Amino acid sequence: MPNSVDPVISAEKVGKHYGHFRVLQDCSFEVKNSEVVVICGPSGSGKSTLIKCLNGLEGFDEGRIVVDGVSVGDPQVNLTKLRSRVGMVFQQFELFPHLTVEGNVMLAQRRVLGRSTAEARERARMLLDRVGLLEHSAKYPKMLSGGQQQRVAIARGLAMDPKVMLFDEPTSALDPEMIGEVLDVMVNLAKAGMTMVCVTHEMGFARHVGSKVLFMDQGRIVETGAPESFFKNTQSERAQRFLKNILHPMGI
Ligand SMILES: Nc1ncnc2c1ncn2[C@@H]1O[C@H](COP(=O)(O)OP(=O)(O)OP(=O)(O)O)[C@@H](O)[C@H]1O
Ligand SMILES: [Mg+2]
Repeated sequence: MPNSVDPVISAEKVGKHYGHFRVLQDCSFEVKNSEVVVICGPSGSGKSTLIKCLNGLEGFDEGRIVVDGVSVGDPQVNLTKLRSRVGMVFQQFELFPHLTVEGNVMLAQRRVLGRSTAEARERARMLLDRVGLLEHSAKYPKMLSGGQQQRVAIARGLAMDPKVMLFDEPTSALDPEMIGEVLDVMVNLAKAGMTMVCVTHEMGFARHVGSKVLFMDQGRIVETGAPESFFKNTQSERAQRFLKNILHPMGI
């Protein structure tokens, strides 16, 4: 059994290839209880691949990943059980179009956790209220805005009472005006003590609630630091260039 002081996630020298292409190399980091780790870096640097390795959505061929005491690369691992402990929110929401909002938040609770319909509904409604969407419970995803759909996806992840939540660019498919409502939910989660790993280029979020920032380039974690020092005292030339581009995309 994991000890309460053990990291929730520990990745040691993780490597992965697609044929001859090294998509991840020597990636090591830890996420402790209630930490919010922000992963950023240029397109194609391996951020999505790394975060998907954490819940077994992608395999890896070198190193070791332990999540909540479970060795993810172990062939014996029960991936369904692992994924119920690790919530994941994607860029494109990935809600079930044929289920209502409430149905989306109830499904895995019943199928994976074996909760009764009444229990799953009660939990779904509590979480939909928490993300500000209780009045939309009976609607179908296509009737909601992108920001609302993403908040449903967060509620669905939380419904499994996860140990950690993973976010892969949760706001990058949203209209600018909807980014704030999703970030607000994420900030509240962070403040409530949820352990989170977020691939995001929302540097305000990183500064405000991040415990540390990992900067990736070409499959490697090239820089790790507390947000304050990462932004003020960026070490690598690549990270400096990256930050300059995202903070001042037109050079002004
Ligand atoms: N199934 C695959 N087969 C071969 N190459 C892949 C596969 N999936 C991803 N890649 C390559 O691996 C690299 C890392 O991809 P990944 O999606 O992890 O990057 P990313 O940092 O998340 O990029 P983005 O910011 O654009 O989302 C890219 O060069 C990508 O083309
Ligand atoms: Mg990606």
